[in-house]
Amino acid sequence: MEQSERERAIYLDPEQPIDKRVEDLLGRMTLEEKVGQMCQYSGFSEEREVLVKEGRVGSFLNVLGAEDTNKVQRMAVEHSRLGIPLIFGLDVIHGYSTIFPIPLGLASCWDPDTVRKGASIAAAEAASEGIHWTFAPMVDIARDPRWGRIAEGAGEDPYLGSAMARALVEGFQGQDLADPDTIVACPKHYVAYGGAEGGRDYNTVDISEGVLREIYLPPFKAAIVDARAGTIMSAFNDLSGVPASANRYILTFILRKEWGFDGFVVSDWNAIRELLSHGIAATPTEAAKEAVNAGVDMDMEGDVYQKNLVRLVREGEVSEGTIDEAVRRILRIKFMLGLFDRPYVDPERASQVIQSRENLEAALELARRSIVLLKNEEDLLPLKKEIESIAVIGPLADDRDAPLGSWSCQGNPKDVVTVLDGVKSRVSPETTVRYAKGCEIEGASTEGFENAVRIAKESDVAIVVVGETREMSGEAASRSSLDLPGVQEELVKAIYETGVPLVEVLLNGRPLSISWSAEHVPAILEAWFPGIQGGYALADVIFGNYNPGGKLPVTFPRTVGQVPIYYNHKNTGRPPSSDRWSSKYLDIPSTPLFPFGHGLGYTEFEYSNLQINPKRIKPSGKAKISVEVENTGDCRGDEVVQLYLRDVVASVTRPVKELKGFERITLAPGEKKTIVFTLTPEQLSFINRDLKRVVEPGIFEVMVGKSSEDIQLAGSFEVKE
Ligand code: BGC
Repeated sequence: MEQSERERAIYLDPEQPIDKRVEDLLGRMTLEEKVGQMCQYSGFSEEREVLVKEGRVGSFLNVLGAEDTNKVQRMAVEHSRLGIPLIFGLDVIHGYSTIFPIPLGLASCWDPDTVRKGASIAAAEAASEGIHWTFAPMVDIARDPRWGRIAEGAGEDPYLGSAMARALVEGFQGQDLADPDTIVACPKHYVAYGGAEGGRDYNTVDISEGVLREIYLPPFKAAIVDARAGTIMSAFNDLSGVPASANRYILTFILRKEWGFDGFVVSDWNAIRELLSHGIAATPTEAAKEAVNAGVDMDMEGDVYQKNLVRLVREGEVSEGTIDEAVRRILRIKFMLGLFDRPYVDPERASQVIQSRENLEAALELARRSIVLLKNEEDLLPLKKEIESIAVIGPLADDRDAPLGSWSCQGNPKDVVTVLDGVKSRVSPETTVRYAKGCEIEGASTEGFENAVRIAKESDVAIVVVGETREMSGEAASRSSLDLPGVQEELVKAIYETGVPLVEVLLNGRPLSISWSAEHVPAILEAWFPGIQGGYALADVIFGNYNPGGKLPVTFPRTVGQVPIYYNHKNTGRPPSSDRWSSKYLDIPSTPLFPFGHGLGYTEFEYSNLQINPKRIKPSGKAKISVEVENTGDCRGDEVVQLYLRDVVASVTRPVKELKGFERITLAPGEKKTIVFTLTPEQLSFINRDLKRVVEPGIFEVMVGKSSEDIQLAGSFEVKE
């Protein structure tokens, strides 16, 4: 385009409204350029330089650093005919350079405000190096801990999952996408990816409409409708016969018509081409046609749109209107991000933003908040700082890699504070800290046991840090066993045998079946992969500088044989009981090892005065539930007050309980607080036999407690026409 024409173009005028700019630009584009906007590639190369200059690439992922993003952006903006900027995407999942706990850990905070803050920090760091778009949050509900990607989400519950989805999207996107510190979010993987059969990644999902709408869709709805995420990623999986990336029902009917989504859909990596393997397309051309007509606007790395869409339009198999609509959506987000007006980043900026003191403090706070005290017999924890000697043992005690977790983005093992570092930093100068690795995370060698046992015997207390490698969770990292890998459990047993008081610290990406430890080890801390400040956070908890208040966002099974096991299950016709002919296993109890919502602390909380108002409401009415919580112990601490509900009799079977409210509070000793929850019709509703969302008359049981099992107060109200 000529310089003079460019100056006159509406789409280049920042004063014009976005929709006008989009339409003006669309009107100038060739079909090839339009299809170009719908293509995304991973990493830059010479071959791609040609495509960029021809205006045939809309986006890159995995182009890193201010220098490179600016360089590639310049090719698009200054060397392509229309100068349409690229949108750079990246998996900024739990921090960019300042790495926070993995998302399952963030969910354990039960604290949307702090999580929102973390996401905004991740956004600012990423944006400072030219990233505009994160493939996050992952909001897939996961009821199967064999599935490695459980680490990337908020666990098993749609209510908690929705709260986390909102917080993360709001944190990434801020108030205004044009703000240089914000990036656009991309909730994924739409939808029901977490339902993979057998917990095997990428596996088939076949679920009912009720389960789809009540379990898997709510966090997406929260991200899209409440928090207004600008993009969404279509999943790899088959969904009840129609793969998600070719599923018009979810991508167009639910997403666009029901929810009014006006952003764009990007496919997961190569997911369009994989329609061939799914067996619903015979050729890449057919795959492209299926996906675009279903509502996938951008092809991630598949090269299927690039090679087929122009021809499909010319042959009348795909309408140009469909292409225009996809391009319109993509361009709108680019305009909203301000890319046309400020396509480059200031290369100086990153050094001011990345790993600033404030960001590291936020990482420490998130790590502390995410830690779950699973067990604490006879108040072994907190340890006294003046203790004479401590043995820090285990293959994860001084590991700088695992705490980063999967998708560690620009995180660097060098920045990781290990548990050993943390302990050393928090004890008094007189304390002797001894360290032994004991064994590897995997493998059969017990050679290191002797030394570990020796230092344990020489010490007043032993902290054993065990768990998983970073590669054992995340994508393509399903496990058929939930046991501690290798000989780690034997190591724990060997240290236990010494009789030294023992604290077990877990660093892992999924619930583990630590039945032996749960029975024998007096104190157990679940820290997940806690990010770069994790070692300090753990030491703060161990020595009582911080009173742990995290709660499990997912059920811990006794053994993998119980999976799937989740708290919001149905009752069955024969609920588990001592009766031989009830729903149970012969060889183990049907209860979990640690239930959803479980987590201890160093103080006590008493619940009283449950009030339900009114006791009778109309289906369109609201009920207020209030409860008083008092810190009756002797130190300041956090409690997560949890509200559960049961619809006792309905036209379809309902879960035995469902989380419908929670609040994390901090109370000083003797302090008391009234917590108020408001139940809305939406929260009382479910999908009935006609697949409609309804509130049915009848009794609702109200349960308030410290976990899904530890219910402190209960009552009920009635819904009546
Ligand atoms: C994953 C996505 C990720 C994408 C881009 C895929 O393999 O499933 O979660 O966003 O790669 O890295």
